[in-house]
Amino acid sequence: MSVQPTVIAQISDLHIKAFGRLSYKQVDTHAALLQVIDTLNALQPRPDVVVITGDLVDFGRPEEYQTLREALQRLQLPFYLMAGNHDDREALRAAFPDHTYLQAGPTLNWQLSVGGVRLLALDSSVPQQPWGEVDEQQLQWLDQALREAADQPTLVMLHHPPFACGIAHMDRQRLRHPEALEAIIVRHPQVERVLCGHLHRSLQTRFAGTLACVAPRRVASGGSGSASGGAGSLYSGAARLFAPLLAASAGEWSRISARLATFRDPGHFTIVRG
Ligand SMILES: [Fe+2]
Repeated sequence: MSVQPTVIAQISDLHIKAFGRLSYKQVDTHAALLQVIDTLNALQPRPDVVVITGDLVDFGRPEEYQTLREALQRLQLPFYLMAGNHDDREALRAAFPDHTYLQAGPTLNWQLSVGGVRLLALDSSVPQQPWGEVDEQQLQWLDQALREAADQPTLVMLHHPPFACGIAHMDRQRLRHPEALEAIIVRHPQVERVLCGHLHRSLQTRFAGTLACVAPRRVASGGSGSASGGAGSLYSGAARLFAPLLAASAGEWSRISARLATFRDPGHFTIVRG
């Protein structure tokens, strides 16, 4: 029996700038995004949804969000937005008024079900700060959402990784008080993944009884040194690949694998539960 997969594509850390400017004075992030969009549009199987896990633009400016909005018009798939430390909640809301899930409340949490897979987005951004935090109200929201659908395979997404990665300057700006998040997720084994961004490199680690994955950032290969930074650089070679693609089969999740792959590299691993 063939099973129709639910395919969720994650991209992250777009850092879009306006007026053709380069991110970090090196990287044409707008051109990189257009390439990623073309890749997404051509993917087979076709993703059901694209989630963009924060740092949508570089400085949270309205003109940057307009540039992002115009670029995303090229995307032929439904997409959902999250905030990172480079984002400005109100500017983001203003640029995407049709994204009603962003419009209410002090933070930009949202939830969505796609083909039997539940997506829970936690807004870990803190205005004017590089580090991340989720407050008590957000944690209660997450816990309640997980209680409501204990049997539904779930992805929890937040921009800031809740674990140390070993890169000192990034560890200083990771999620603060991750133990509070961990204490909730560990009680809910339906959480198949915790998906993050922020680090601009692909990482996977165990967290709270599940697997936490960080999406790499797609960077342009042109330009001097734009994709060849040394250790600790935001532009490591690893980030030259595309963001992960999570393919989760709907239905009998306990007997079906979940796969993680980059867009270019079909390598994957398999988890079998139950
Ligand atoms: Fe970030």
